Amino acid sequence: MGATPETLGAPAAPRGARRRIGVGVIGFGWLGQAHSRSLLRIPTLFGERGFDTELVVCGDTLPERREQAVGSFGFARAAADWRAVVEAPDVDVVFIAAPNMLHLELVAAAAAAGKHVFCEKPVGGTPEQTVRAEKAARAAGVISGVGYNYRWAPLVQYARQLIADGRLGEITNYRGRFFSMYGSDPLGVLSWRFLVDQAGHGVTTDLMSHSVDLALMLMGPITRVVGTTETFIRERPLPGAAGSHYGRGRPGDPTGTVTNEDYAGMLCEFASGARGTFEASRSIVGPESQNAFEVYGTKGALGWNLEQLNELQLYLVEDELHTGYRTVYGGDRFPYHGRFVPGSANGIGFEDLVVIEDYEFCRSVAEGRDHRPGFGDAVEWVSVQAALLRSAESGRWEDVVSLREE
Ligand SMILES: NC(=O)c1ccc[n+]([C@@H]2O[C@H](COP(=O)([O-])OP(=O)(O)OC[C@H]3O[C@@H](n4cnc5c(N)ncnc54)[C@H](O)[C@@H]3O)[C@@H](O)[C@H]2O)c1
Repeated sequence: MGATPETLGAPAAPRGARRRIGVGVIGFGWLGQAHSRSLLRIPTLFGERGFDTELVVCGDTLPERREQAVGSFGFARAAADWRAVVEAPDVDVVFIAAPNMLHLELVAAAAAAGKHVFCEKPVGGTPEQTVRAEKAARAAGVISGVGYNYRWAPLVQYARQLIADGRLGEITNYRGRFFSMYGSDPLGVLSWRFLVDQAGHGVTTDLMSHSVDLALMLMGPITRVVGTTETFIRERPLPGAAGSHYGRGRPGDPTGTVTNEDYAGMLCEFASGARGTFEASRSIVGPESQNAFEVYGTKGALGWNLEQLNELQLYLVEDELHTGYRTVYGGDRFPYHGRFVPGSANGIGFEDLVVIEDYEFCRSVAEGRDHRPGFGDAVEWVSVQAALLRSAESGRWEDVVSLREE
């Protein structure tokens, strides 16, 4: 990390050296908008890019979202039917940010039409759907990307480097968790996330997917797990048409039943021999968006928490003063941080990670090479998820078996 800080962009590559990438987006809620906005920001941050994206067509069933896409984001057109996106001849890449149980159908259609596909995590609502989506993209020979955006946090990448370089020694144990407040209020509305027919599984699919994905990147494969799940809030107020999972109902509103899990916990063994624990909850009171991990090795330890995205806690035995953890602040000495803000401890935010993620994906498309994290990585997580769900049923340890299909 001793490299020269790269601050505030880079000189622009000549226009003729850049490849045009026509973009279609399906689902224009939180993440559909975040990706579209990120694509618009890329030219201002990555002058050296070898591509220029063009927002061509946005698909969403809500008329107000379609108006926003054209009127405010500059999409050339918008459509209520997602087929208009995957079939458009001037679209090269489809970004999918619709509810999870739609992912497989959308991925399969986009891949069959020869489009490269970026799909938000978890790529389908069930392990079986993720496996089929990965197979469809591979069979079509298109490049896939998946929205495990926290991988791209500069300090998470620094943690990866420290572990890979052996600075923490042999890793003995790992703690991962994703505790979110979004469902902690019983008046939080029954959005699609709480319904098995729209979201698939609950917090395992929504939040633990991120937590375990980070661990797979940092620590390598998981071999067996024992776990449990629970739904703590079983009825919620019905939402309006555009109700997000952050929306609130009122006492006395009509309610509906929550049909997937609020909580999941598991103990696991990594192939490396390290042991790990994971917890995820969307109905917890206290933590707000605590996507966090701690790594413990024979020569040091580190910890990162999304609630303090610009800080890494680091303890190295080699330090002369054994006074506990020190705080490493984010700054322009870590990859890409300086594109957004120069200096040290001037923070970056959630959507900046989406910009880095989209830049890296479009770069892979422009260069015609495989991308990571791609659908293969999504299958690695659902292989763990399937073992966890089996264990929650059986009450026993379950082996992680790769679900990837040839
Ligand atoms: N990586 C992350 O940090 C992160 C964060 C939030 C959400 N996500 C993922 O992004 C995806 C979308 O989540 P969100 O929070 O943006 O949801 P959202 O509810 O805010 O948006 C979903 C959008 O899809 C639209 N939609 C529904 N059915 C449709 C259809 N048949 N055709 C076209 N559009 C349709 C809705 O009208 C809505 O605008 C999910 O898969 C979720 O897991 C990822």
